Amino acid sequence: MPAVRIEPLAADHRNALAAFVESISEQDRVFVDRTLISQVKVAGWTQAVPERRLVAVDDDGSVGGLVTVSRGVGWSAHTADVRVLVRSSHRGRGVGRALAEAGVELAASMGIEKLTVETMAANAGGQATFLSLGFQVEATMQGQVRDDTGHLQDIVILSRWLTPSS
Ligand SMILES: CC(C)(COP(=O)(O)OP(=O)(O)OC[C@H]1O[C@@H](n2cnc3c(N)ncnc32)[C@H](O)[C@@H]1OP(=O)(O)O)[C@@H](O)C(=O)NCCC(=O)NCCS
Repeated sequence: MPAVRIEPLAADHRNALAAFVESISEQDRVFVDRTLISQVKVAGWTQAVPERRLVAVDDDGSVGGLVTVSRGVGWSAHTADVRVLVRSSHRGRGVGRALAEAGVELAASMGIEKLTVETMAANAGGQATFLSLGFQVEATMQGQVRDDTGHLQDIVILSRWLTPSS
């Protein structure tokens, strides 16, 4: 298995990123920050935005996954939300874990003190990816989202302090 190359999203990923976004199912679009999707659509995604992103790149230059770290605002500016999305064809070979790890490192380098991840309670893979990196379940929000089939689903919020909590 080739090693995963994780690098900051940059202008030369533009076409590969557009192909990646195109490959995402409707169901999984929720895991990509809306800013990125709209920026890809308007082809202006290189502009400065608060979100910081890293991509997993294959040997052929294609993008296999994305991690986004979004800093909180105002009195939550010491926190950030992290989201990982791996192309369906690339799942189950460590890409998600590598991206999540890189996202934690990126957040630490940004001076973030506390990281959170939101995912559906039924998303075992999403939770496993972050639990194995020291995240813990902090809250469950019942019936917080309606899934594709119209059923209400619980949301689980996982968190990890990057500095001792005070
Ligand atoms: C969740 C997701 C990022 C995992 O990516 P991946 O590349 O398949 O993950 P990895 O192969 O690196 O596996 C990471 C861990 O999750 C576990 N895992 C992955 N898929 C799983 C599943 N369906 N059920 C249970 N555990 C699973 C692996 O065993 C591994 O555990 P370990 O670190 O303790 O060994 C990917 O499925 C995805 O993009 N899903 C849609 C978006 C999403 O749910 N994002 C997470 C919340 S932001």
